[in-house]
Amino acid sequence: METKILKPSKQTFQFAKNLILNNELVAFPTETVYGLGANASSEISCNKIFQAKGRPQDNPLIVHVGRKKDIPKYVASINEIEKKIIRFFMPGPISIVFPKNKLISNAATCNSPTVAIRLPINKIARKFINICNCPIAAPSANSSKRPSPTCAKHVYDDLNGKIELIIDGGNTNIGIESTVVKVENNMIYILRPGKISKRMLENKIHVPVLDVVKTSAVVESPGTKYTHYCPKCEMILAINDKINNIIKLHEHFKKNNKTVIVFCVKENEMAYKENNIPYVIYGKNSEEVSKHIFALLREYENKVDVILAEYVENGDMVDSLFNRMIKSCSGKTV
Ligand code: TXA
Ligand code: MG
Repeated sequence: METKILKPSKQTFQFAKNLILNNELVAFPTETVYGLGANASSEISCNKIFQAKGRPQDNPLIVHVGRKKDIPKYVASINEIEKKIIRFFMPGPISIVFPKNKLISNAATCNSPTVAIRLPINKIARKFINICNCPIAAPSANSSKRPSPTCAKHVYDDLNGKIELIIDGGNTNIGIESTVVKVENNMIYILRPGKISKRMLENKIHVPVLDVVKTSAVVESPGTKYTHYCPKCEMILAINDKINNIIKLHEHFKKNNKTVIVFCVKENEMAYKENNIPYVIYGKNSEEVSKHIFALLREYENKVDVILAEYVENGDMVDSLFNRMIKSCSGKTV
């Protein structure tokens, strides 16, 4: 089967709906990354997602809805703090973990009694979901462990022949996946950082916001924790004394006949230019870099032996970007 890539149109949405109602998979754009959609009420459909991606069976899927009023249809309860998060941040790049009800298949949540619900702001995503008129389970539309897809071609490169349709909505706007939160003991826990930051949540909701990702890093083994979003080539993240460390590493790899590209922020460009080190500017702050990081990893993984990436320290997405990049480099830093 050749996977079709179609621009959004009445016919495309109708075709997508028929596929979803026949338990097939459809990739679609959101404001964060492309999603691989299936009917979240259907065990057969959800199982196909795990198969197509090669996704571990214990990693639950986020369920997408197209309207706020659809959220109560799929969850057992909504508390006051969750209501506030919905009011202030949805639609948008955030997913909230609720107790689920039986309309959500156990195959979507990997038998967890909870379900992460997301209402994207992307119009194509919402139109697609609303036309299907069912909850849409959708992980990022990449093969497991690969960088997440931010355009239709990335999805095609990973999943051609495995899914029927990709709805092509151009490049995604944010570039990294949604913030995942849960509410417990009247506090918000950030399970995965994203564009909606701890500070934004604190400012609007006025309850303690805890960052679970950082605290759990201590106990989880690096192998499972850090291998994700990986390019096919070697990658090292320079955190301290960035420019000097990168210049030294470049020298080392050059001696070993390895080709290198540096991912740098705009303000450091001259240092690499003066030293004749190949570089690409990946933005001037964490928001800009987030937009391009996965596309750049996919672009350069086949062109060079080693990616040397600068840690990005400006902007509101520093934490969420670092969370992705530390995994991309499998925890290798200088
Ligand atoms: O921006 C996004 O969230 C994208 C787009 C397509 O919406 N989706 C996405 O899905 O990133 P995925 O499957 O690649 O990541 C889902 C994350 C995982 O870290 C998973 O463990 C967590 O959400 N998650 C899903 N359901 C959960 C649950 N019931 N409890 C805790 N974590 C959950
Ligand atoms: Mg993913």
